[in-house]
Amino acid sequence: MTPYSCARDDYKGKEGVFLDANENPYGNLNRYPDPYQCELKSAISKMKGIPVDKIFLGNGSDEIIDLCFRIFCTPGVDKALTFIPTYGMYQVSAAANDIDLIKVALDEEFNIRYSDFQPWSDDRNLKLIIVCSPNNPTGNMQNRSVLDKLITGFRGIVLLDEAYNDFTGEPSFSENIDKYPNLIVMQTFSKAWAMASLRVGMAFASPSIIQYFNKMKPPYNISTINQKCVLKKLTSQIAVRKRINTIVAERERISAELKKIPVVMNVYKSDANFILVRTVNADDIYNYLVSCEIIVRNRNSVIKDCLRITVGTRSENNRMLNALKSIRI
Ligand SMILES: Cc1ncc(COP(=O)(O)O)c(C=O)c1O
Repeated sequence: MTPYSCARDDYKGKEGVFLDANENPYGNLNRYPDPYQCELKSAISKMKGIPVDKIFLGNGSDEIIDLCFRIFCTPGVDKALTFIPTYGMYQVSAAANDIDLIKVALDEEFNIRYSDFQPWSDDRNLKLIIVCSPNNPTGNMQNRSVLDKLITGFRGIVLLDEAYNDFTGEPSFSENIDKYPNLIVMQTFSKAWAMASLRVGMAFASPSIIQYFNKMKPPYNISTINQKCVLKKLTSQIAVRKRINTIVAERERISAELKKIPVVMNVYKSDANFILVRTVNADDIYNYLVSCEIIVRNRNSVIKDCLRITVGTRSENNRMLNALKSIRI
C-alpha cells in the first residue's frame, strides 16, 4: 500500500517560502502538523528507552484499536478475539470494520484461562487478539506468564492495551517488544498523564508493524497544538508521578472504606485508577448517586450488580463515600 504523500514529504527544511500545501499564508495555526510527530516521538523515545521507529502515535488509543482491525483483518472474512468483560471499544471498532469479534469469558476472578482460548488458536481466520491489562472495567492485571504463552503461541497479532499500566508499578510489556515480533503494546496520555482531551495514544511494536500504521493512518492525525501540549507535559514527569501516587493512595483508601459500607457486597482489587464494586442493587444505587449529582459507571448490564467508580480528588471521593454510607438497606 502506498501512503498519502504529504506536500512536505519532499522538503525537510524548516525555513523557506511554502507554496506547496495550499495552506493559507496568514495566521499562526495556518500550517499542517508534522505527520510523523518527530519531536514528540523523540521525547517519548528518550523517556521510554524505545527507538523512534518502534513508536506510533494515534488520535487517542481508540484510533490505534481501529487501525489494528483495518490493517490486520479483512472485513467480512477474518476474526479477532478478546476476553470479556472488557473495554467496549474493541466491539464497536470490530463491528465498524465488519470483523467478527470472538468473546472468551474471563474466569470468576477476571483472569484469562488459557485452556478457554486454546480451541481458537488454530483458526486460520483469527488474525488479532486484544488483551486489556489492567483490564477495564475489572481493574485487575493479567498474569505475565499467561500473556507470554498467549503471545508466543499465536501466529497472529496481539494488541496489549496497557492504558492503565502507570497505576500498577509493574513493568510494561513494551520493554519486551524485541522478544515478541507479533506484539503491539498500547498506552495513552489520557489516564495517568491527565491529557484525555488531547487524544494522544501510543503504540510500541517492531518497525515493520509500525510501518503499516504509518501507511494506513490519516496523514495529519495529531494536531500541532496537541503535539506541543504533550511535549510540554513530558518536561514535568516528576509532578505527573506525584499525582499518580496520590491517585493510587486514594484508590487504596477508598477501597478500604467501601468495604465497610453495608450496600457494598464486594470490592474488587484494582491496579488501575478505578474500582469495580458489587452492590445490593446496582441500578438503584446508581440512580441514587445520580440524584446526588455523583456519576459513576453502571456496569450492571455487563457484570451483575457492578458499578465502576473512578478515583477522583479526595473531596470528590469523600462525597461518593458519604452518599453510599447514607443509604440504608
Ligand atoms: C482500556 C482502555 N483503552 C483505551 C482507552 C481509550 O484511550 P484513549 O483516550 O487514548 O483513546 C480507554 C478509555 O477509557 C480504556 O479504558
